Amino acid sequence: MAEMEQPFLTDIEEIRRRARQHLEEGAVTPSYEGDVETTIKLLNDALATEVVCVLRYTSHYINAQGIQSESVKAEFGQHAREEQQHVLQLAERINQLGGKPNFNPEGLLTRSASQYVEGANLVDMIKENLIAERIAIDTYRELIRYFSQHDPTTRRLLEVILAKEEEHANDMHDLLVAHQGRPMLQS
Ligand SMILES: [Fe+2]
Ligand SMILES: [Fe+2]
Repeated sequence: MAEMEQPFLTDIEEIRRRARQHLEEGAVTPSYEGDVETTIKLLNDALATEVVCVLRYTSHYINAQGIQSESVKAEFGQHAREEQQHVLQLAERINQLGGKPNFNPEGLLTRSASQYVEGANLVDMIKENLIAERIAIDTYRELIRYFSQHDPTTRRLLEVILAKEEEHANDMHDLLVAHQGRPMLQS
């Protein structure tokens, strides 16, 4: 005897009713599997990391000097704009989840995974950016692992940002090789 066919959406009325409830929760519906507070905290830490990256790249962009620095300067400027984009993407996601993006400069460096180092010369600047990008990559990989179980939308956003950070690290590595030989590679 055939069992009664279950409709795909078990109870559309119930889903509609729940969607109407708690409208102030925005994109966070009862089926959200993550812990919203933890998600917002983690995303705010990532936001701080990105803000520090904007500041560091902007400082390097302004301070890059020397006859060979034009292309490096342009690269720093482009990265500063892309890090700014990451700031906005993370802030939007925090906002969607009902949180408040933390732009308070107080405690910024404590929340950030990467550091703000100005660098004494062009090669130092490139090295500092490469270090910061590698830290960002590690941090995002860890967050992606965490969110793959808890929040696929946030995971996808972080995957897009991670791909850009890998590009950034590669750019900085290329610049380092061009300006200082191959100090990072074992012969
Ligand atoms: Fe970034
Ligand atoms: Fe980056």
